Parts: sequence; structure tokens; C-alpha cells
Amino acid sequence: MAEYDYDVLVIGAGPGGYVAAIRAAQLGLKTACVESRETLGGTCLNVGCIPSKAMLHASEYFDAAANGTMAKMGVEVTPKLNLDAMHAQRLDAIKQLTGGIAFLFKKNKVDWKKGHATFIDPHTVDVGGEKVTAKNVIIATGSSVTPLNGVEVDNDKQVVVDSTGALELKAVPKKMVVIGGGVIGLELGSVWRRLGAEVIVVEFLDQLLPGMDMDVRKEAAKIFKKQGMTMMLGHKVTGCTIKGKKATLTIEKSAGGDEQTIEADCVLVSIGRRPNTESLGLEKIGLVVNKRGQIETDHDFRTKVDGVWAIGDVIPGPMLAHKAEDEGIACAENIAGQTGIVNHAVIPGVVYTWPEIAGVGLTEDEAKEAGHTIKVGKFPMLANSRAKTNHEPDGFVKIIAEAESDKVLGVWCIATVAGTMIAEAALAMEFGATSEDIAYTCHAHPTHSEAIKEAAMAVQGKPIHV
Ligand code: FAD
Ligand code: NAI
Repeated sequence: MAEYDYDVLVIGAGPGGYVAAIRAAQLGLKTACVESRETLGGTCLNVGCIPSKAMLHASEYFDAAANGTMAKMGVEVTPKLNLDAMHAQRLDAIKQLTGGIAFLFKKNKVDWKKGHATFIDPHTVDVGGEKVTAKNVIIATGSSVTPLNGVEVDNDKQVVVDSTGALELKAVPKKMVVIGGGVIGLELGSVWRRLGAEVIVVEFLDQLLPGMDMDVRKEAAKIFKKQGMTMMLGHKVTGCTIKGKKATLTIEKSAGGDEQTIEADCVLVSIGRRPNTESLGLEKIGLVVNKRGQIETDHDFRTKVDGVWAIGDVIPGPMLAHKAEDEGIACAENIAGQTGIVNHAVIPGVVYTWPEIAGVGLTEDEAKEAGHTIKVGKFPMLANSRAKTNHEPDGFVKIIAEAESDKVLGVWCIATVAGTMIAEAALAMEFGATSEDIAYTCHAHPTHSEAIKEAAMAVQGKPIHV
């Protein structure tokens, strides 16, 4: 009889966990995956990446019709919002994609254990009273919304909501206050602004989108203001009272000062996410989390406890689905005795607003702080023929290269299809490209991607179209 029920038991079926489970099974390991939700796919497929993009995409159509963009191209329509239908297509996308993972589990012979997992010892996990043993356990439990003291979320009432509640609003709020000018605040704030809400973003720091290049952060604030959002940068919410269907927020400058009050029909709390490690029984296996509540691992995704591995949002690094997926594949390969590697220096990040905002590698400030002497090339989307033809003039591409070697250190862009464009930059950096390599690569015309080539030519000091 086998010593363990499984070679690999994965806890959590988000992009980290389900991908790790499929890869492990593909490599011939007997694998099970525990998930406490009714459906597979984790935060990303159920309440994150997919539903938010469904709402972003649909609201983009509404906005293009409502704000005159379509009329500029000779298509005159007066849009009528059917919010129920918009939600229905969101739910349909979730159903199809989560069902797709269930199909892949069956196809790859991954056992789906439904329930909440708690460690009994490093090789034994309790799932709703059933003891499941495995030679290797991968923790892929993801993350949840960080709460804000004094501003209590109640998604059912739809007055103070988190990202999950903001995806499901049954009516367009007249006035929405978004607390936190990060990725969720800007994406979901954009959805409701496009559908008719007045949106005010309260951000603690002096700029939006911490972690991104400063030129991008400043330009993003200008673009969102132009679209009609109010930006209260350098402000914090100090309290919230609810009366019926209205919230009253007290707000002051981050450094302190006079208080002002704002009444809103809806408040979105989006000040970050924190790792899910509670009620996992980590104390039973002697695994201690770091100050940020994350599980630390080595380069191969091994934790300090033999046989226990961790990946995705629950470990340090950006909380992104593609990072979790790549870690899932690498972790499974390492368990199978192969060499699974994730290059954490080249993980693209994308904000799916209009235009999109994307980056990979170092910001200009980070490059300087790391001691690099740099050269920078910038190209405006206004000078890109395709963007201009499509009436999409906002944004730019910025390439940061090391002065002496010309090696690309970071690429930042704001463009309607920046999320697609950034893949080229990531590939270039993965292969250690110089800006000259990009400048001398033939790019199809007319495409937005030509702006990447032109920014690379700008690093070389010779752009053509500006
Ligand atoms: P998760 O996806 O969080 O999955 C963890 C799973 O583990 C969950 O299903 C949970 O129920 C389960 N679980 C937890 N504890 C237990 C337990 N003890 N027993 C059993 N099951 C358990 N990222 C992007 O890259 N692109 C995007 O466009 C994007 N959009 C987003 C939009 C929103 C609104 C949000 C909230 C997030 C978004 N993200 C996006 C982030 C992305 O969703 C996460 O980075 C990603 O889901 C992390 O994957 P994971 O596998 O680590 O964890
Ligand atoms: P975030 O970390 O992106 O942004 C939070 C913002 O809130 C920051 O700008 C921070 O300065 C601000 N903040 C913190 N405390 C505050 C306070 N008390 N008052 C006002 N502002 C405050 O977090 P967010 O937007 O909640 O998203 C969580 C994570 O989910 C992201 O970091 C990202 O990893 C992931 N995500 C990714 C998406 C994508 O890839 N397109 C989309 C949505 C989420």
C-alpha cells in the first residue's frame, strides 16, 4: 500500500493552485486539489480578473457610445443601459471559465476535494472531517480584501462594498467614493464612472498606482481627471456613518488637517489585499508567517517545513494571476524533480482601464536607486498612426535602458492595448535584449506596437515620427 493517498495535495484552486495541480498530474504525480468555494478558479475567475474584465469590456462599449467616441467615427447611437444583461454576461463568463477548470481537472485526473483544508501535520490535511495524506502539500490559498478600520464592508446592503460587492451593484450609484487609488479602485471606479456614476477617488499617497513608474502615475491621474473622475490625492478617510442607503465619510489630508464630509451612495474599499493563512492550522506544522502575513519560501517554492510548498498571493511578490500560474507550474516541476524557475524580475503588470496602463521591470527611480546609469526613450501615442486613426491619443511608451550596455531594464506604457503590447517588452527582457535589438526588429504597420519600436529608437536618439 502507498505511504500517502497522493503525491501532491494542493490547497486552493485559484490560478496558482489549479495550474500547479494540472501540471503535477501531467508530470505523472497522483494529485488532488482542495477548494472551499463551490467553483474552481479562485479569486481570479470568480470575483477578480474575469468578472472585472467582463464589466470593464461591456462598460467600454457603453462609454464609447455615450461619450461621443463612436459618433466621431460616424456611428451615432444613444445607448440605453441594461445592467441586468451586463451582469448576466459577467456571470456567463465566470460559469464558462470555472466549468472549464472542472473539465481540465477531469481530463488530467486531478481529484477535486470540496471543503476547507486544515493541516493536522505536514503530510496530513483535514477536509471537512476526511483525513487526506500527501507526500507534498502546496499552499495556494490566495488573498482577501484588507479591511479599513471604521469603514465596515457589507456587500449585501450595497452601500459600503469591497471589489466583490462593486462587481455586483444592482443599480448605478449616483455618487461613488473609492478609497484607494490602486488597481481595483481605478478599474472598478472606471466601470461605474462609464455607466454614469460621479466617482471620487481618495488616495492616501500623493500619486495613484504605487509601484509603477512616476511618469505613468502622473499621466494616469491627468487622464482619469479628464475622463471626469475626481482625484483626492494625499487624503485619507477617517470615518464613515451609514443612514439608510447613504454613507457619510469624513476625510482629511493624509498628514492631518481640517476635516471635510462627503456623502455617497456607494463606497468602495480597495486599499489592498492580504494573504489567506488564517484557519489553515499553520501552527500545527510550525510554519510562521512574516510581518506581512505571507508565507516565505526559497527560490524553488519550498517553505521551511519539509514537504510543504507555497505559491501565489500567499507568498511575497506582486498579487497577480499570471505570477501565481507561473509559480504553480515551476513548483509542480520542482516536486517532480525538474528545474522549475520563475524570473520574478520580469513580471508584467497591467491596469485594464481605458487606456490600459502596463509595465515590466524597473521604474526609472528603481533603476537609479539600484545604481544604474540609465538612458530613457519616450514615444507619445499621439504620434502613433494606428492610435491616432482610432481616436486613442492618450499615453506613451517609455523604455529605460542601462547606459553602457543598452540592456533594457524597464518598459512602461499607457495605451489602449498596453496590456497586449507589454508582452513584447517582457519577452525582450527575458532574452536580455538591448533597446537597439527592439529598435531594429521589424514591427507591423499600422500597429500600436510600433510605439515600442519608436521608444527604443528614442533611446538610441533617433525616433522617426516625433
Ligand atoms: P486565489 O485566486 O485567491 O485562490 C485561492 C483559493 O484558495 C480560493 O478559491 C479560496 O477559496 C481557496 N482557499 C483558501 N483557503 C482555503 C482552505 N483552507 N481550504 C480550501 N480552499 C481554500 N490579477 C491579474 O493578474 N490580472 C487581473 O486582471 C486581476 N484582476 C483582479 C481583479 C480583482 C477585483 C481582484 C480582487 C483581483 C484581481 N487580480 C488580478 C488578482 C488575482 O485575482 C490574484 O492575484 C490571483 O487570483 C491569485 O491566485 P492564487 O491562486 O494565489 O489565489
Ligand atoms: P493596491 O495595492 O493596488 O492599491 C491600494 C491603494 O490604496 C494604494 O494606492 C494605497 O496607497 C491606497 N491606500 C491604502 N490605505 C489607504 C487609506 N487608508 N486611504 C486611502 N488610500 C489608501 O490594492 P487594490 O487596488 O486593493 O488591489 C489589490 C491587489 O489586487 C493589487 O495590488 C493587485 O495585485 C491585484 N489586482 C490586480 C489587477 C490587475 O492585475 N489588473 C486588478 C485588480 C487587482
